[in-house]
Amino acid sequence: MDLEFTDKSVIVTGGASNIGRAITLGFAREGARIVLGDIDTVQAEIVAEEARAAGAAAIEVVACDVTQLDQVEAMFQRAVDLSGTVDVLINNVGWDDLMFFTQTTPDFWRKIIDINFVGVLNCTYTALSIMAPANSGSIVSISSDASRQGESREAVYGAMKAGINSFMKTVAKENGRNGIRCNVVCPGVTIPADDEEIGSNSMWVNKDSMFTAEQLEKVAKSLPLKKIGRPHEVANAVLFLASNAAAGHVTGQVMSVSGGYSMIG
Ligand SMILES: NC(=O)c1ccc[n+]([C@@H]2O[C@H](COP(=O)([O-])OP(=O)(O)OC[C@H]3O[C@@H](n4cnc5c(N)ncnc54)[C@H](O)[C@@H]3O)[C@@H](O)[C@H]2O)c1
Repeated sequence: MDLEFTDKSVIVTGGASNIGRAITLGFAREGARIVLGDIDTVQAEIVAEEARAAGAAAIEVVACDVTQLDQVEAMFQRAVDLSGTVDVLINNVGWDDLMFFTQTTPDFWRKIIDINFVGVLNCTYTALSIMAPANSGSIVSISSDASRQGESREAVYGAMKAGINSFMKTVAKENGRNGIRCNVVCPGVTIPADDEEIGSNSMWVNKDSMFTAEQLEKVAKSLPLKKIGRPHEVANAVLFLASNAAAGHVTGQVMSVSGGYSMIG
């Protein structure tokens, strides 16, 4: 079906690597006008080239640290200058370093809170200031299955992702009357197919420090679908939820794309 993203103005945060890259390329194939906001502009420019080849109507890389509200506002202004408005926001930035809670420090908690939660607040706040007067918009935030049932070595990260789930439901309730839909996608373990799909800032640069090959095999075996996820599988769900044509009556929902790791009714 036609997702009706042709010439739509889309912002993808953290679009330089892995899942964000796949989301960017997904919108590119649909002919969208994209602003890719990332702190890794080197890898982002590589993805922008791929996006142009894939069919993006326009794409611009903006250096943006989502934890900084002034940089977020400048990124949104760039999208408005490029395309006149912002139709879709994808809050994709996230970061973790797997450790048991007792091994972490208050500085580490603050970094996790800023990147995973404050970044979503900054971007959503700025998006709503454009979308509400336009009476139209769609926001999809990338959470994690760690938010749904707790996950060892992801205590603070999982809590922030659970915060995103709740935050997006409230924003969905408050802004439905303005024609704005807000939804969440929770990936399970999702690894790049190739090292070229990530930049030096990706969590997956040292894959083994996240999961050894043996651990990945165990994860795959434990899942109903018996395989580890790939970024395009998450991107497909994100595009579905972002699309008014496909999901025009869907808001405040949290969807797992995790091979069946969590099944929440
Ligand atoms: N990959 C997984 O297994 C998995 C599982 C569950 C949830 N997630 C979530 O999916 C999203 C994407 O994960 P991924 O595996 O593609 O991550 P990744 O680390 O491969 O890529 C993240 C991107 O965000 C950028 N980034 C990091 N901090 C930033 C900041 N402050 N401002 C702007 N850009 C910043 C990085 O440069 C990078 O390009 C995250 O929200 C993550 O928490 C991923």
